[in-house]
Parts: sequence; C-alpha cells; structure tokens
Amino acid sequence: MTPSTSPLHIAFVGCGGIAYNQHAKAVLSCPDQFRVVAVCDPSRAHAEKLAERFGSDTAVFETMESMHDGVGTELDGVILTTPHDAHLPGGLFFLERGIPVLIEKPVTLNLEELRQLQAKERPGAFVQVGQMQRFDPEAWWLRDFVQSRERFGTPLTFDLNIWQNIHGYTRGNSDHWILNGRKAGGGICTSVGVHPLDILRFITGQDYINVTAKGRFDPPFTAGAESSCSALFEMSGGLTGTLHASYQPPRIPYAQRLVLFGERGSLFQNNKIGDYAGPYTMVSEDPHIDDFMAMFGDYTPIAEEVNKTYPDQKGSPFSLQLLHFREAILKGRTPTENTLEINFNTIAVLEAIAKSMQTGMTVSVEQLEGT
Ligand SMILES: NC(=O)c1ccc[n+]([C@@H]2O[C@H](COP(=O)([O-])OP(=O)(O)OC[C@H]3O[C@@H](n4cnc5c(N)ncnc54)[C@H](O)[C@@H]3O)[C@@H](O)[C@H]2O)c1
Repeated sequence: MTPSTSPLHIAFVGCGGIAYNQHAKAVLSCPDQFRVVAVCDPSRAHAEKLAERFGSDTAVFETMESMHDGVGTELDGVILTTPHDAHLPGGLFFLERGIPVLIEKPVTLNLEELRQLQAKERPGAFVQVGQMQRFDPEAWWLRDFVQSRERFGTPLTFDLNIWQNIHGYTRGNSDHWILNGRKAGGGICTSVGVHPLDILRFITGQDYINVTAKGRFDPPFTAGAESSCSALFEMSGGLTGTLHASYQPPRIPYAQRLVLFGERGSLFQNNKIGDYAGPYTMVSEDPHIDDFMAMFGDYTPIAEEVNKTYPDQKGSPFSLQLLHFREAILKGRTPTENTLEINFNTIAVLEAIAKSMQTGMTVSVEQLEGT
C-alpha cells in the first residue's frame, strides 16, 4: 500500500496502560505526522477511553478483523500494545495484509514465534520492535562512549538490576495476564528484564553467548513465570556480568540500573526510584590513581555531554521511536533500528534464561539461535 501523505493514518491494537500513558502522548506530540483513525480492544471501555484522546473521528472496534474490514484500506501502520501472547497473532494479521506494525516489547514469546514473524515480512510490511530505550539520546551517547573505547577502554564486567513490586503494578488483581507464564511468556525477565538486557547489547555492541540462571517462582505468579531471577552471562566480546531481577521488592514502583566497568572507565546508572533510566554518571580519567580519597572525586554526570551532542533530540524515547517507524513507512522499508533481526539475540537470551532456570544448567544462546 502507498502511505498517505502526511499525516500517516495509524491504529492502536490494545488500548491499556502503555497505549494510554505513553504511545498516545507520543502520537499527540506529533499532530502533523500522525492521525489515529481507529483503536481496537476486546474491552470496549479501554478502547473508548483511548479514542477520546484523539477526537471524535477515531473509530472504535473490538476485534482486529472488524477494524480491518472498517478502516483497513486507509491504514499506514499499527501500534500493537497487547499482552505478550497476542503479539504474534496480531503481528501476523497485519503483515499478511501488508501493514507495518510497531509491536511492544518483548516482540514475541520465543524465537520460534520471532521466526514466524520474520517469514511474513516483505517490502512495505515489516515489524519495528518497541524496545524504546534504544531511542534515548543518553543511550546513543553511552553507546558511542563505550564502543569508541577511547576513554572507556575494553568493557570487562557489568551488573544489571530491574526491580518492581508486582502487587502495586497489578493493583492486587491476581488474574492479571502478567502473572501468567503462558500469557506473558515468562516472569520478570521477559516482562521488564528485557529492557536492561537489550540496552546493554545496544551500548556495548555485544551479544549474549551463554547464561546460567536461578529463579524463584513465588505466588502470585503462575504457569512457570519467575518472580525473581539471578543470572550470570558471557558476551560475544568477552564481557561477563550479572542480572538481578525481582518483582518482589516491597514498595518499589520501578527501578532499573546498569553498571558497566571498562579497563579505563566506570559507568553507573543511578536510577531514580520510579523511573526507567538515568541519571548516569561516569568516570574515565586517570583510572588507577593510587590515592584512596581522590577516588571519590571526578564523577561526571553525562546529561550535559548528551545535550551538547544531541541538542535537537528533545522528544521522549516513545515519540522518537514513533518518528523512526514513520520514516520506515514512508520509505517502504524495514527500519534501521529495532528490526526483528536486531532483536533476535534479545529474545534468544530470554529463552536461554528460562531454560537455565528450568534445568539448572548453563545454556548456550548461540546454540538456541542456530536451531
Ligand atoms: N515500553 C515500555 O516501557 C512498556 C511499559 C509497559 C508495558 N509495555 C508493554 O506494552 C504491552 C501492553 O502492556 P500494558 O501494560 O499496556 O498492558 P494492559 O493490560 O494495561 O493493556 C493491554 C490491553 O490489551 C487488550 N487486549 C488483550 N488482548 C487483545 C487482543 N487480542 N487484541 C487487542 N487488544 C487486546 C486488553 O484488553 C488491554 O486493554 C506489553 O507488551 C507490555 O510489555 C511496555
């Protein structure tokens, strides 16, 4: 299909929390670039609430089929923000009808599903994965800082943390899909651990090659979803490190942290409780001073350097990812960031963590990718 002239005509499939709180805001921040022609959700109340944000022209549907029958011919793209087990059926549905789709993370429940999506991509009908943290200018700056190695040296070790109190998140709803391993595809690692796992790949340019993991499987999680996980990784450039992920810490709304040590630099993401990233600080000058007290000085917040390097990138990561999606639609080709191919090792490491938690063995991510 030839995309409409600006603004692009898009639709939402899945009208819950992230669609309402973030994607809608991103769309509304670019009124010349996007027009939401339809929203779709089996919960009509959710769909109507989201539609209200876009004005009276937005049509409301309860199924993808009825939405496609109603407005399919005018759709340039779809934002799919459903529970994880609906990502594959939704993605296939739109790819088969020639419509590009931005799918929230994790793009699929496993590698087999990812391959099914890949098999349906063709010119003009592609998937962009919603790992939106790759659209944060801080992440771009960190990628260049780490990968240039000039000040950071060779990356050696890392520590990733992701914590969220699940009772607050689900508002005590013990039937929430995120608690069910069949609907969510796993527990904490799949649902939110995917963010730091993926952003570490982005910053270092390295892929996971093997993992050993130990999980906890406490209530209210069901169907094999882990409530907490401790994992140890080896990466393609020799980097080694750990992940501690937990849905069990009391009163933590959301906290994500990345610590990375190179031969000459230390990088800390000192997460603010409730936020997903930053502020970052780093130190890289004179790495091995032999003065204990002097080690307390010289940490530099990166925000100023990020602003200098990317003065024009003021949008949120959600709006920057949306503009990237738009550019790919207009050019009729897969995006340059967050393709299925780029996401492959991220989905593979989630599958490897799950396998290691089940078997107690070290799992080769490379082998899983090859099968
Ligand atoms: N990028 C981020 O930071 C971030 C944050 C939160 C959630 N997410 C992701 O966004 C997605 C949705 O999460 P959420 O928190 O909005 O969940 P949610 O439960 O609040 O919303 C999901 C919505 O999808 C609807 N739905 C269920 N099955 C559907 C189907 N087959 N077709 C259409 N709609 C369907 C539900 O009725 C609900 O309204 C997940 O992939 C999640 O991991 C991403």
